[in-house]
Amino acid sequence: MEKRRILVTSALPYANGAIHLGHLVGYTQTDIWVRYQRMQGHEVHYCCADDTHGTPIMLRAEQDGVTPEQLIARMHAEHLRDFTGFHIEFDNYYSTHSDENREICYEIFRRLVKADLIEKRPIEQYFDPVKGLFLPDRFIKGECPKCHAKDQYGDACESCGSTYAPTDLVNPYSAISGAIPVRKQSDHYFFKLGQCADFLRIWTRGVGTLQPEAVNKLDEWFRAGLTDWDISRDAPYFGFEIPDAPGKYFYVWLEAPIGYFASFKNLCAREGIDYDAFTDRIRSRDEATEMIHFIGKDILYFHALFWPAVLESAAFRTPTFVFAHGFLTVNGEKMSKSRGTFITAESYLKQGLNPEWLRYYYAAKLGPTMEDIDLSLDDFVARVNSDLVGKYVNIASRASTFLHRHFDGDISQAAVETGHDNVLAAGVQEIEDEVREAYNARDYGRAVRAVMRYADRINQYFDANKPWELAKRQDDRARLHAVCSEAIAAFHRMTIFLKPVLPALAERAEKFLGTPGLTWHDLGRRPAQIGKYDHLMTRIDPKQVSALVEANKETLQPTRQPHSQQRHAQHQEHIVETTPGSPISADDFGKVDLRVAKIVQAEHVEGADKLLKLTLDLGGETRTVFAGIKAAYEPAQLVGRLTVAVANLAPRKMKFGVSEGMVLAASGEGPGLFLLSPDAGASPGMRVK
Ligand code: 2FM
Ligand code: ZN
Repeated sequence: MEKRRILVTSALPYANGAIHLGHLVGYTQTDIWVRYQRMQGHEVHYCCADDTHGTPIMLRAEQDGVTPEQLIARMHAEHLRDFTGFHIEFDNYYSTHSDENREICYEIFRRLVKADLIEKRPIEQYFDPVKGLFLPDRFIKGECPKCHAKDQYGDACESCGSTYAPTDLVNPYSAISGAIPVRKQSDHYFFKLGQCADFLRIWTRGVGTLQPEAVNKLDEWFRAGLTDWDISRDAPYFGFEIPDAPGKYFYVWLEAPIGYFASFKNLCAREGIDYDAFTDRIRSRDEATEMIHFIGKDILYFHALFWPAVLESAAFRTPTFVFAHGFLTVNGEKMSKSRGTFITAESYLKQGLNPEWLRYYYAAKLGPTMEDIDLSLDDFVARVNSDLVGKYVNIASRASTFLHRHFDGDISQAAVETGHDNVLAAGVQEIEDEVREAYNARDYGRAVRAVMRYADRINQYFDANKPWELAKRQDDRARLHAVCSEAIAAFHRMTIFLKPVLPALAERAEKFLGTPGLTWHDLGRRPAQIGKYDHLMTRIDPKQVSALVEANKETLQPTRQPHSQQRHAQHQEHIVETTPGSPISADDFGKVDLRVAKIVQAEHVEGADKLLKLTLDLGGETRTVFAGIKAAYEPAQLVGRLTVAVANLAPRKMKFGVSEGMVLAASGEGPGLFLLSPDAGASPGMRVK
């Protein structure tokens, strides 16, 4: 097999926000691919960095009362901590705010000027006269020129979806100062992208360079025509000043991808790798090195048009592949702060969830296309528990018990040699081929499914041989030894297959198997002696997931609208929220555990103007619930009466304590709030259906 030499990158995250589960899709995808290629024996350099420049970062630093340098230093440390926590193992995690990046940027710019691909011309833009700065599109707001929705951004309307220039907005205002922006002229530098059209048309059609959906997308862009690209911004700006152009800075999107090279160059200097062999147009061709970018589908334009055009024009190598992935949805919807599904990497780890659960789930969901992937939280729990704990880890735990008790942990080598009990070895080549092909093609879902089919076979084999019965008979010892040894040999194979996804678990398994540093070439081997079996992985408790969601819910703010009883009741104080709209299935409804509850105690809550604290008896089980019904009831009226409660609502931390459920009440447009009660005869704990 030819040894591949590959520079791999993941998109550089902006240095003005925390890493969240959406980000982790792309990094997990890349990391798995890198680990897999290394296990095949290929040379891979995995580089990334923080994307540190631009107006938003400058403004964020100002808001936080720190210098941009301080902000990006802090973010760098946080990002790296989060990635490391999820076992994303970069060879270098660098910064675009670096000498290397500045130098390569200048070099590229110089070559573009020499190739006559840079043009300076004046343009007119919105300027914030109070802040004294030109406003990026996202910092200008106003009324949509088409549908007249208020407070829309300068580039697109979130209400009707139309796109336009910021100068089209009706009654525009600066989102920074609120001032009315004025039009102002200044000189900008443009990269003549139009002149690269012929090159790009050929490049984008290169075999496998881009995914088929990406090629289609690019065709649309080609048809619309490639316009020149504005690569400069005016001071004040946090970035690199353009040589011989005081007050002009490189637009962040020009130098961000150059950051891939900067990170790699920094790594090369440290480890003695030949930088030019991977980056120079001629050298990279001669040495058959590859450069592969993993990105999100939203930044395809930059990576499949601007970046290759800039590289080609400046005599650098162009990307071998650009792989785009889709976005993450949680429970079928966009991540949301109010629903608690905008989950940061930090909080996931802080809540004590195992990062490999998520890596596995993402792997199981990821395919080679740009389709979005959904993190369904119930499915996450079910899948990880059934696949990893129930199928994979279970094999080691079951077989090792017998092997330790009767054979001192020795693994019989006989089975394989004599062909006896070879059922598990049969078909392994096909599985291996499928897994290998699937990983390489980024079809991790397929790889994982193949491995789990194998796990099913092993568990069936184990059950069919009833080792617990074999263990009872002295003359079945050899067979017991063979059966358990086969299971361990199969577990060893599965460990290799899953190692790119589950590196930490694999390390513990390697210790148990006595086979450190497993690579693909170890598939033909078999462990000789197992060590003590320690729990390799625990099950996910669904409570951990609900606690995580709770922890990510935007904290409850005291209401700003004291008269808006309804809004208050709906959003802050646990009265059931009625959203008429799309129908739900009977199954959906069945998920809500409604119970008859007896209010055994009701009290005022100090400092709360809407809440009462209720103690509910749910038929032997006591719950505390904070309910927003103070305006309608005196505590004394409530004690002893029956009502209906939601019993399986995740506990919710509120300012005054933890609320462990919800009571149901009716309200309408007019005043008044009415607690539900069952007919006479119902008793606490009865299920309401
Ligand atoms: O979209 C983003 O988050 C950018 N910071 C990605 C940059 S990727 C590369 F071009 F640097
Ligand atoms: Zn609109």
